Amino acid sequence: MSGTHDQSPATHAAEAHDAHEGPIKTPKQLIAAVFFAFVIPIAVLVLAANYVSSDVKPAAGSDITDAEAVAARIQPVGTIDLKDMSGPAVFRTGEEIFKAQCAACHATGTLGAPKFGDADAWAPRLKTGFDTLLHSALKGKGAMPPQGGGEASDYEIARAVVYMANNAGGKLEEPKAPVAASAASQ
Ligand code: HEC
Repeated sequence: MSGTHDQSPATHAAEAHDAHEGPIKTPKQLIAAVFFAFVIPIAVLVLAANYVSSDVKPAAGSDITDAEAVAARIQPVGTIDLKDMSGPAVFRTGEEIFKAQCAACHATGTLGAPKFGDADAWAPRLKTGFDTLLHSALKGKGAMPPQGGGEASDYEIARAVVYMANNAGGKLEEPKAPVAASAASQ
């Protein structure tokens, strides 16, 4: 009967203190509490952040990691098209244009095109003059689409006209490059 009442005041104080201490009583519990209070929430946050940003991560084997693709993505916003700054050196010759864009019809005379090197076919056309021929080549005529259906500068088309004409008995002058012409007039 007297067992519990025999305790010293110090033991009573310790018991009273224990009663208000909450659930953490041993170092193990403390470690567990720290784990659940900090480590798990942080792990959850890291996983959540990972999940949200997983969209922009390149998937394995995707071409986003290609050096070229990366260069394209990090290139500066403004780019310069060097084509527009080109001097006369980059113009293709009449022969090059002919082979690339005109030969399809003019090499064989397809669709009634005056055949390359056929003086008889070209003679009546040559009489109309270079300006008329050039206008036809630039704007199209009959079955011929504008610029022969290709993409070239007017100057290149002019060179192609001269190239074809002069290979069929014409004696046209090589047209002047536009840059040289504007430089000469200044
Ligand atoms: C799709 C076929 C085709 C292509 C490609 C083509 N031509 Fe022609 N070209 C023709 C035909 C068809 C004519 C005859 C048109 C007519 O007189 O009705 C012609 C006629 C011409 C004439 C004579 C025009 C005139 O006034 O009599 C010139 C010059 C000419 N072509 C230049 C070119 C040049 C330069 C190219 C390339 C840049 C080219 N052609 C590409 C079909 C073509």
